[in-house]
Amino acid sequence: MESSMMKGAHIIATGSALPKKCISNYDLSKVVDTSDEWIYTRTGIKERRLISEDQCIIDLAYQASQKALDNAKINPQTLDLIVLATSSQNDLFGSASQLQAKIGATNAVAFDITAACSGFIIGLITANQFIQTGSYKKILIVGADILSQWVDWSDRNTCILFGDGAGAVILQASKTNFILGFQLDTNGLEANKLCISYQQESVQSYHNNTLGIKQGQYSYIKMNGKEVYKFAVSKVPESIKKCLIQLQLSIDDISWLILHQANQRILDTIAEKLCIPSDKVISNLQCYGNTSAASIPIVLDEANQKGYLKNNDIIIIAGFGAGLTWGTLIIKWYT
Ligand code: ACO
Repeated sequence: MESSMMKGAHIIATGSALPKKCISNYDLSKVVDTSDEWIYTRTGIKERRLISEDQCIIDLAYQASQKALDNAKINPQTLDLIVLATSSQNDLFGSASQLQAKIGATNAVAFDITAACSGFIIGLITANQFIQTGSYKKILIVGADILSQWVDWSDRNTCILFGDGAGAVILQASKTNFILGFQLDTNGLEANKLCISYQQESVQSYHNNTLGIKQGQYSYIKMNGKEVYKFAVSKVPESIKKCLIQLQLSIDDISWLILHQANQRILDTIAEKLCIPSDKVISNLQCYGNTSAASIPIVLDEANQKGYLKNNDIIIIAGFGAGLTWGTLIIKWYT
């Protein structure tokens, strides 16, 4: 996109937050018929963090945001926009405004993006559009999910995979553009492969009967694991390759591959298909499982805090999940 208003952007800080409660594979084997060996060999997960009864998603999102704001040393009142990527909001009308109030970002517009495990990457790309058009200069993007609230804890096919958490980044306008390019895709025809559907039921009440209205509730996560696996290992490498071609970059230019932390076997297969060596693939799902929209900003923050990311490193970030949605973002690191 060429425009006289075109602006560059870069990530100036990161932050993350995880609940204290840690549930190991062994703990899960007391709840469903599974074992540490099965879970670890099929997924690479050893343990996950789950939110406690007195915490809500906004607490986690707040902690991650506050760390990013502290790391950036900026006043929350200078934020123009807050994008909260979540599929487990505590208000169907949106939770971003609760986060805006809690961090005291009184000048920021705030809205939610619901796109499951692709939510953070879609949020970051959306935020970047506001910077490119010159509308906003400082944006907080948060990925937060507490899928423990939506998992059927008697379903061993799904309950072993997910954990809770939040991660945040601050994107700021800059003269040079460090957000190099992106590729996004959606295939709604396969939405039923991974969903938390609303189920209509006949709730008997005087008003419902009179007005002929059916009301219901959301069901638990339903997933066709094998199909989601096949989707991820076929579509994500394609998306990354398209993005590299657009930017005239080769695999040798890449410093790091940061993927949505769904399953170690998915990460390994994608890296193998792209001929990216395993020491360039950043993974932390052993400790946290799949934290949905939070997984990318959490792993990005950990890599940043550990000092892995150096200025001018080229990083591929790719997300995939329910929708089905998937996407790649390629950035140059510069803080
Ligand atoms: N413990 C022990 N045995 C189990 C478990 C368990 N937790 N779960 C399933 N099994 C059994 C099955 O019943 C089956 O038994 P059977 O052969 O007697 O029928 C056997 O193990 C094999 O099951 P599969 O489903 O074939 O196992 P698979 O190798 O496909 O692994 C998994 C399952 C880990 C879910 C894999 O398919 C996967 O990772 N898929 C991708 C899922 C994913 O990443 N989802 C998140 C997407 S992101 C988002 O948007 C939220």
